[in-house]
Amino acid sequence: MKKLIKQFRFTPDNYPAAVEAKIQKLRKLKYKLPPRKALRTPEQIEGIRESAKINTALLDFLAEHIREGMSTAEIDRLTYDFTTGHGAIPAPLNYEGFPKSVCTSVNDVVCHGIPSETEILRSGDIVNVDVSTIYKGYFSDASRMFMIGDVAPEKQRLVQVTKECLEIGIAAAQPWKQLGDVGAAIQQHAEKNGYSVVRDLCGHGVGVQFHETPDVMHFGRPGTGMVILPGMTFTIEPMINMGSYEVFVDEADDWTVLTDDGLPSAQWEHMLLITETGNEILTY
Ligand code: MF3
Ligand code: CO
Repeated sequence: MKKLIKQFRFTPDNYPAAVEAKIQKLRKLKYKLPPRKALRTPEQIEGIRESAKINTALLDFLAEHIREGMSTAEIDRLTYDFTTGHGAIPAPLNYEGFPKSVCTSVNDVVCHGIPSETEILRSGDIVNVDVSTIYKGYFSDASRMFMIGDVAPEKQRLVQVTKECLEIGIAAAQPWKQLGDVGAAIQQHAEKNGYSVVRDLCGHGVGVQFHETPDVMHFGRPGTGMVILPGMTFTIEPMINMGSYEVFVDEADDWTVLTDDGLPSAQWEHMLLITETGNEILTY
């Protein structure tokens, strides 16, 4: 006979028995549940929180410096200096060969734009600045849009609606709901406004690693997908296109993602901690 040494406990030890019981019930009903490693311990949450604080301070710092006429390489230098000055590491730098410390994605660049000395921010541009920080081994990730000078009303509206998509997604990311509920809420708002949701890139678990389980789609059907449980930390980062959702990767650098039709794209990103009663935005 085999001897049972460990309890069949799904959650970390500190979880309330009521939460554990609820999870076991969903398990029997064959819901898709996150793996245990996606449920953070209090120690991990503390570390992730500290990392996120530096990441948010960095975005606030960049917001003060971004202006017409500067190169995106300058944003990269500011990011590197601020991050290392706070005893942290820019997560993008050398991540799967990414050459810089930040992603800067201008106009029809959907994401993963590489900062460059020759790319100058001009009046009318919209730019996503996506920063990610490693602090004491813990990861954080968030991005904002910036509008340079006089931006056309259509582009301003895209930026605004994309921000609303993130807020609506956050509101839908409740414990015991499902990831499909989040995607569906975002998709509905984007399409109601005449825009499309990029399909080929998604949000993700983050904290112990840069990109971990689960994948957080920004489109989908309510009542589908992984159950959202207290203790998860993941991003929501909708990329919303003015035209079609088709994108392609620039072969010249293997990173830059562009819209197929050349129309603008916007993105906002926050990192959440799911709690027993709702969620907490870690990147405010
Ligand atoms: N920060 C991006 C995200 O939101 C990932 C960038 S990967 C990099 O997930 F290598 F380009 F930095
Ligand atoms: Co992200």
